[in-house]
Amino acid sequence: MTQRRRTGTAAGGLAAALTALALLAGGCSGSTGGVRGTPGSAGVRDPYFPKLGNGGYDVGHYALDLAYDPGTGRLTGTAEITARATQDLSAFNLDLAGLTVEGATVDGAPAAANRAGNELTLRPHEEIAEGAEFRTVVTYAGVPERVTDADGSEEGWLRTADGAVAVGEPTGSMTWFPGNHHPSDKAAYDITLTVPAGLEALSNGVRTARRTEPDGRVTTVWHEPEPMASYLATVAIGRYETKAASTPDPAVPVLTAAERSVAARSAALRDEVPQIIGRQVRRFGPYPFSAAGATVTADSTLDYALETQTRPVFPAASFDRTTLVHELAHQWFGNSVTPATWRDLWLNEGFATYAEWLYTEEYEHVPARTHFQRAFAQEANWAFPPAAPPSAENLFDPPVYQRGAMVLYKLRETVGNATFDEILRGWPAKYRHANATTADFTAYAESVAGRNLDSLWDVWLFGDERPATS
Ligand code: ARG
Ligand code: ZN
Repeated sequence: MTQRRRTGTAAGGLAAALTALALLAGGCSGSTGGVRGTPGSAGVRDPYFPKLGNGGYDVGHYALDLAYDPGTGRLTGTAEITARATQDLSAFNLDLAGLTVEGATVDGAPAAANRAGNELTLRPHEEIAEGAEFRTVVTYAGVPERVTDADGSEEGWLRTADGAVAVGEPTGSMTWFPGNHHPSDKAAYDITLTVPAGLEALSNGVRTARRTEPDGRVTTVWHEPEPMASYLATVAIGRYETKAASTPDPAVPVLTAAERSVAARSAALRDEVPQIIGRQVRRFGPYPFSAAGATVTADSTLDYALETQTRPVFPAASFDRTTLVHELAHQWFGNSVTPATWRDLWLNEGFATYAEWLYTEEYEHVPARTHFQRAFAQEANWAFPPAAPPSAENLFDPPVYQRGAMVLYKLRETVGNATFDEILRGWPAKYRHANATTADFTAYAESVAGRNLDSLWDVWLFGDERPATS
């Protein structure tokens, strides 16, 4: 509901009178209904990507309706974005890379659209009052561009032999839909995909419908009700074989998929997904989402596995148990508890790496201590402190993963197993479906441990040098 925005129904007569008065007084136009908005900012000042995300509003829901033609590589889309204004807004931005915007409306009225770089600026017909919920619809089309990350990885909407696969950590999702593409603005999603008959179209969450269009194409509807950062949105279109299963009690539906050419060789490990999640539930607490699974693509253009929400995506070459454990652990650490900025990424990667160590300790007879000592000995892990990567190029470097996990191992050693286990379950419970910073984590760990842990953080989390002894 709108608060201060005039809607022109019962207040219409009064509005007209006020407009006349304002005109008589030589004042400003009456079309804003008294709201004196300013433009929302073009970024949320992330330390690595200052223009990523946008200020002035908070998205609650994305409804993406996408059609893809693998033959031409052309994507046709409608994005319906429901958001709440966090200031009086005269204009606001969405992040979008490439593609052609064909039209935009805000609350049903045409909005002026302007593009500069990856910023799409919309100027609504009427200004939007702080606190008001508003609905933006953008229609767009084109052959999506890829993003080459600072570290050289290719991401975004990646064309494959039969279809496409979309991944976007950290910034690739802006190549296939306009949005507030910073992890601090999480939202629910409904993703509708229309593709040629014979192809599977996968995305996040639960599949709620599938229908054949009059022209023979097939439409699949995906529903992700839990808050999701846009870098975790995914699409996989191609000749996939799928298999449904369920996690052990409490039951969460599991859907795994693999492209035909890699279906047989990935089947046994895909079948382990329910068991691995069950084991992680015992250590990390309740599974945070209403769907689970894994998608394995045959395509080699996909540079990395990604913990896309509910259903991580793997290039076949990296679909092994360690990576599977890692991406499933991210459902708690990264997807439910999401970093407030990209500087806090070690909260994802350090925990997911620690989850690998924990898994081998419990089920494969390799103690976490062995991993820790190995990581401690490796020069590359000491290039910088995990909570302060020097630049975007280093976001996914070994210190974020390995030193991040070392921080947790040292925390366990310092506070003892029982307290550490409590932290491991309590952290994703306390920040469930929220965002968190490094400072939130250190404060939380200290509150559970009941003592100050500065000497631990100073050396292992923030220190520049490898300590003399482990
Ligand atoms: N989060 C992914 C993982 O599970 C890695 C993403 C890497 N992205 C990149 N641009 N290098 O480790
Ligand atoms: Zn990871």
